[in-house]
Amino acid sequence: MNLSGKTALVTGASSGMGFAIAEQLQQAGARVFGLCRNISKIPAAVHPISCDLTSPEQIDAAFASLDALDILINNAGIAILSGISDGDPADWQKMWQVNVHALATCCQKSLALFPESGGQIVNISSMSGHRVPRTGGFYAPTKFAVRAISDALRTELRSQDNPTRVACVSPGFVDTPLLDVYFKGREQQLEETKTSMDMLTAEDVAESVMHILRTPAHVDVSDIMLRCTQQKI
Ligand SMILES: NC(=O)c1ccc[n+]([C@@H]2O[C@H](COP(=O)([O-])OP(=O)(O)OC[C@H]3O[C@@H](n4cnc5c(N)ncnc54)[C@H](OP(=O)(O)O)[C@@H]3O)[C@@H](O)[C@H]2O)c1
Repeated sequence: MNLSGKTALVTGASSGMGFAIAEQLQQAGARVFGLCRNISKIPAAVHPISCDLTSPEQIDAAFASLDALDILINNAGIAILSGISDGDPADWQKMWQVNVHALATCCQKSLALFPESGGQIVNISSMSGHRVPRTGGFYAPTKFAVRAISDALRTELRSQDNPTRVACVSPGFVDTPLLDVYFKGREQQLEETKTSMDMLTAEDVAESVMHILRTPAHVDVSDIMLRCTQQKI
């Protein structure tokens, strides 16, 4: 795929899937911007944008620094084990801010930068945005919200005859640093989970994103769900 001449913004490019997606976009010839807090960790030759997505002012400044955009990958996210019955509402707030509010804000801000022929948004949801696992807590609702925001935006855009496409990618377990946070205090369970399955890699998910970007303009992918073969739910 040749993405030369295209500009892409990847949120959360300093780790895991965002790093892999930014790398693959770069290899495909796109001009890539990586937005995150730890900008020293983004792939080489990706343009850094230092931004804490919990700050509306920093999001404003990040988008003001861009002159044009063709592709937005809303990947940044946090997963804290925090139940509805017993979790800390402060953790719910953190997840809501990054996984939901910032994602919707980035969608809205990208629209002004897309060409008239339309842009492509890919929002990273999760299998936890399709069914709620026992430990889904408040994280799963944030990922359901990612899908609902994507559907709402697509419907609005179509009613405005705006050809911008909005897709989701919904992975199951992916071997990234996010799991260390999600399984904090349950390290043994994480170890067992990792040894019981050949988990998806960040690159596997990046391939699904690249598939969406490869589709011709008349194809509007809504969601790709992927799990590793051994994942039971
Ligand atoms: N790993 C899984 O099993 C899995 C499964 C399904 C879906 N997902 C979803 O996939 C996405 C990527 O997750 P990952 O597994 O690749 O996680 P990861 O390795 O922990 O990376 C998370 C990224 O999000 C960025 N981020 C977090 N808080 C931020 C903030 N306040 N401002 C700006 N950037 C922030 C981090 O950058 P900085 O820390 O540098 O800011 C980092 O680059 C997330 O949306 C996650 O919910 C993960």
